[in-house]
Amino acid sequence: MARLDGKVALITGAGAGIAREASRLFAKEGASVGVVELNPETGNETAGMIKADGGKAVAIQADVTRPDDVERAVKETVEAFGQLDVLYNCAGGSAPPDDSVTEMPIEAWDRSIQLDLYGTFLGSRFGIPELKKAGGGSIINMSSVMNFLGEMRGFPPRHSYSAAKGGVSALTRCIAAEYAKDNIRCNAVAPCFVETDRNIAVKAGWTNEMTTTVLHQHPLGTGRPIDIASAALYLASDESRLVNGVILSVDGGMVVI
Ligand SMILES: NC(=O)c1ccc[n+]([C@@H]2O[C@H](COP(=O)([O-])OP(=O)(O)OC[C@H]3O[C@@H](n4cnc5c(N)ncnc54)[C@H](O)[C@@H]3O)[C@@H](O)[C@H]2O)c1
Repeated sequence: MARLDGKVALITGAGAGIAREASRLFAKEGASVGVVELNPETGNETAGMIKADGGKAVAIQADVTRPDDVERAVKETVEAFGQLDVLYNCAGGSAPPDDSVTEMPIEAWDRSIQLDLYGTFLGSRFGIPELKKAGGGSIINMSSVMNFLGEMRGFPPRHSYSAAKGGVSALTRCIAAEYAKDNIRCNAVAPCFVETDRNIAVKAGWTNEMTTTVLHQHPLGTGRPIDIASAALYLASDESRLVNGVILSVDGGMVVI
């Protein structure tokens, strides 16, 4: 028996990176997947990959910062597969012009809070009622090492992203505490630097000093999308039945170095 047999999962930001990897992995483990993505082309591509592997998926174009879109994404996933058991709020990300509190444009703050924190809130806002109908389920949120660190040594500040991910971790604990009575668990994954396609392109612009710093900070090597997707799979499955309110670091020990 596969680890997510019979379960229905909704995964946001699933047209690329970690969420695409998780969508494919969850489907291989038996889940039917609502592939929720802003970019309809890449969302369709992920759903196509899952189907080509013999899995079940439906691509849903939606912006996680828009309440109507998120409500519809949940509805369309349930219409396609009958229920919702796993909600993986993965869409998010950090990018310039995020900077220090005094240097970032005000809009950079709004972007991080909207995409990383508000988008995560909206997923649960509309997902929890369906998880309740299914008799419970698992919510996985995306935090980051930046939820623990003020700044990453050797790199420009990302204060709005760090604050948004800190908010995601706090929200994760609130949901874990409130909805355990409904058999709903909520945990977050906090990755280090992950070698997604986007980050491989970012790395190409690093100085030698930045590369050395990153190697030092990642004694077990930088992350691969599958490292993070595997942690999310554990949190999605019944193997983590008693795990609730945890911010699971998947960082090779980066935050303790
Ligand atoms: N990659 C890393 O090094 C790393 C480290 C720590 C945490 N994270 C977190 O992991 C998550 C995934 O990161 P990634 O690097 O795989 O991302 P990515 O940039 O590779 O992919 C993000 C996907 O989300 C989609 N997206 C963007 N805005 C959206 C919106 N408003 N609505 C719906 N979809 C939207 C994009 O189109 C893209 O397909 C994010 O929350 C990120 O903050 C990533």
